[in-house]
Amino acid sequence: MSAQLQYPTLPVIAGTDYVHEPIQAFKAAVAQIVADAWEEDVSKIYAGVDTGKKGTDLALAVPRFKKGKPDEWIKKVEEAFKPNNLIASFKPQGPFLMFDVNKQAFAYHHLRAISSMAAAAKADPAAHNKEFGCSTEGAGKHLLVDFSSPNIAKPFHAGHLRSTIIGTVICNLHETAGWKVTRLNYLGDWGTQYGLLSLGYDRYGDEEALKADPIHHLFEVYVKINKDNDAEKAKFNAGEAIDPESTIHAAAKRVFKDMEDGEPTAIAQWTRFRELSIEKLKETYATLNVNFDVYWGESQVKPESMERAIQICEEKGLTCKEDNGALLVDLKKYKMDRAIIRKADGTSIYLTRDLGGAHDKWELYHFDKHIYVTASAQALHFKQLFKTLDLMGEPCADKLEHVTFGMVHGMSTRKGTVVFLADILSDAKDVMHEQMKSNAAKYAQVEDPEGTSAIIGATAVKIQDLTGKRINDYTFDIKRCTSFEGDFGPFIQYSHVRLCSVERKNPNVPVADSVDEIDVSVLEDPKIHEVLYHLAAYPEIIKSALKFSEPSTIVNWCFKLSHLVGSAWETIKVSGAEDREARARLFLFVQIRNVLNHAMRTLSLTPIERM
Ligand code: ARG
Repeated sequence: MSAQLQYPTLPVIAGTDYVHEPIQAFKAAVAQIVADAWEEDVSKIYAGVDTGKKGTDLALAVPRFKKGKPDEWIKKVEEAFKPNNLIASFKPQGPFLMFDVNKQAFAYHHLRAISSMAAAAKADPAAHNKEFGCSTEGAGKHLLVDFSSPNIAKPFHAGHLRSTIIGTVICNLHETAGWKVTRLNYLGDWGTQYGLLSLGYDRYGDEEALKADPIHHLFEVYVKINKDNDAEKAKFNAGEAIDPESTIHAAAKRVFKDMEDGEPTAIAQWTRFRELSIEKLKETYATLNVNFDVYWGESQVKPESMERAIQICEEKGLTCKEDNGALLVDLKKYKMDRAIIRKADGTSIYLTRDLGGAHDKWELYHFDKHIYVTASAQALHFKQLFKTLDLMGEPCADKLEHVTFGMVHGMSTRKGTVVFLADILSDAKDVMHEQMKSNAAKYAQVEDPEGTSAIIGATAVKIQDLTGKRINDYTFDIKRCTSFEGDFGPFIQYSHVRLCSVERKNPNVPVADSVDEIDVSVLEDPKIHEVLYHLAAYPEIIKSALKFSEPSTIVNWCFKLSHLVGSAWETIKVSGAEDREARARLFLFVQIRNVLNHAMRTLSLTPIERM
């Protein structure tokens, strides 16, 4: 490294890492200048150095620290300011102190961090948290995430899709910060409806159909038996004499009671439904780059843990009884209503299983944090759950978090309004495939059009889901989200492909092994600086997305990067450039690609190289 690029002696500030997040060194250099001029504590000033203010690289608002007219304080900085290796210039503007970085040093240190971290990660693919943007903040901590969690025999609805996509990104984000993450699928695989399903299967089930496509078949069976059940109810309501004990409803309850009592034949059939369904789910999850460490579920909650929870609730005086004998927890005091924890017939309910389950999971994992990801429609359920656990005095109670999201409107597939995840993905893939075919020349070069269109289709579906703030509703639109034009998933893939193509198209230009082999002075250009400045923000973007469980922060960062690279394209041409320039630019492209690639993987996308 040339002497003019070296870091000057920088202050020690808690939480900074100048090697892996060079922008912090530039901020610290500004903080040092101001702190010296004002005789203030440098760490305090550091917290006020802002990025992203128009017309400058780094800014500081004087009123944040000094009351009254800022002039005197501005003057002090003006008099003391001397450029150094990191900070090139100073100018005041209104109440702001504005600083511009030394562009060469900025390029050098960022390209150095990105490239050396990429090399370290390559050398150790098992390490999740080595690339630019990663940190070790969560080292030693364990996160458990309960997400996706569909119900067996019922369609995988839009809510499950959102939970799957958002949940996966939350897991990945924690891994980039060094957390150990356990991904848990809490299947809806228990309850009276499984008694009903079992009856339905005796009536309408077909072994071949079950093996071929368990999810669809069980759903068909479930729909049929529900129809019968409804018809029977209608007759009963119309006054027809029906023995309540001989109804489908009563029989279903008996089967479920058998299941709860562990009766072997009831359990055996249910186990088969469950296992076949999991197998099928795994296939679909694979096409989404989603995986689980454990397929758990409502059925796995230990009966004694539910009993224990009920007992503690009773002992602590949290319960009351309904006239029919059902037991409730009374949370009216907390404006959370009352909630059943044991039905009149003694069986458990969704909340009972979550109460017992929290204890079981705590015993199994001793997590530092446990996130549940579901639609905001379940907000009350989770408030009740967390409050009850808290009142019970459970040690896990202060480690639980509910991450919610808005609704999806208009989701249906060409096969009908009931949505199966596999059908959504296959629709998206078909639309992408058609789109790709429309450019015959490019299409001819794609090695695996089927696989590629499946990846871009999945990208489109995921990015559509992750672009808005998660709390907002959105309208599902397969045609729109698969468009190559505009801020949709395929655009991010396209940018990655384009970044990959530079290296491919310039086989005569060597890719430097380290930033010290290129001449950063040839990268001094406002458009390039804009791109680098955006890259420099990536670690902060990751941290913010993690803190707020907000994947859209990364998606929008990716879109902006794609636009910036798109508009710098002409400025950073490699082919036809003079040697020194070509080498430096190619190195720059490779590093942009490294960061975009990491962002895409964090979003659970599969970055593709050609399309
Ligand atoms: N199976 C539930 C549903 O489809 C979601 C389960 C969420 N997790 C939990 N521990 N309650 O609505």
